[in-house]
Amino acid sequence: MPLAQIIGTGSYAPAQVITNKDLEKFVDTSDEWIVERTGIRERRKAAPGETTSDMAVAAAREALAMAGVRPEDLELIVVGTITADMPMPSCAVFVQAKLGAGRAFAFDVAAACAGGVYALSVAEQFIRTGQVKRALVIGADLFTGVLNWNDRNTCVLFGDGAGAMVLAPAQEEGRGLLSTHLRTDGALAEILTIPAGGSREPLTEENIRTQRHKLNMNGREVFKCAVRELTSITHEALKVHGLTTSQVDHFIAHQANLRILEAVMQRIEIPLEKCWINLDKYGNTSAASVPIALDEANRAGRLKRGDIVVMVAIGSGMTWGCAVVRW
Ligand code: ACO
Repeated sequence: MPLAQIIGTGSYAPAQVITNKDLEKFVDTSDEWIVERTGIRERRKAAPGETTSDMAVAAAREALAMAGVRPEDLELIVVGTITADMPMPSCAVFVQAKLGAGRAFAFDVAAACAGGVYALSVAEQFIRTGQVKRALVIGADLFTGVLNWNDRNTCVLFGDGAGAMVLAPAQEEGRGLLSTHLRTDGALAEILTIPAGGSREPLTEENIRTQRHKLNMNGREVFKCAVRELTSITHEALKVHGLTTSQVDHFIAHQANLRILEAVMQRIEIPLEKCWINLDKYGNTSAASVPIALDEANRAGRLKRGDIVVMVAIGSGMTWGCAVVRW
């Protein structure tokens, strides 16, 4: 069975920039603190009325153009998101309609910041089995809408955006997605949640007043889990292919915090120069983070034919995943 190959990438970030200095105006923080603790300098915010599917479609159009694939040729659309346009139906159905991709079946994958890698892994399975020949994978989140703008622990970290990939069966043996690896530890669910708005805590005036329908995070626990699991899954995934970390050409990692990236890179002994870093510009764009980074590295001409590219992401759940690609 052929491997799935990424034949096009695209990304989109809204025009409005919010700098750390802008945040200083309404929350007790400073540019120095944010840069030193996270590496983030600015992030993007969707325009009023702009939806997650609008961002997803913008990224998708770029990826489709690069791949030379028409929307009507798509057979599958998978969107990694936890901030869909509405609770029902999925973000993916709006993407399908806006693109005019009438042949594609479409659904969302909810794995928070790991959503891009989870969606990629799901689509990969359909290509590998031969059931689908052209798949569109998107990671998109409009996180500024679920932030408590009074909570300095979280509101400085995130931004909005979308990234996309088009998958097709590889035309050359040995090239493509060598494997994807997904992991979950639901015992850690409570360290990163949006507590209200679901069946456990339906929306009420009271929980809206106390902002329980917004993101709630134990930053230190998330930090420790991210470093531990991203390190371990990278080793695990490379081992399957008899590869060592020294053979990795590019590390495309979830852009949550520069200190997380530095700690992981140090542990897996891959120089930081091999890691694409854009969190200074976008902050944490959740499911969009890895697809945006991949697209930027691709468009910068960094990814050469035959290179080993490792993608890793981690998010609420906790959920995490890794993809190993021979480009
Ligand atoms: N500005 C100023 N001070 C702040 C801010 C802020 N924006 N945020 C927190 N502080 C304060 C805290 O209140 C605390 O003050 P105190 O000592 O008086 O209580 C102090 O800074 C230190 O807080 P810590 O939590 O120890 O700071 P830390 O160095 O751990 O950094 C951070 C916090 C940036 C949240 C870090 O823990 C982190 O990045 N964790 C990972 C979170 C993450 O990436 N989440 C994304 C979602 S999941 C994912 O993508 C993996």
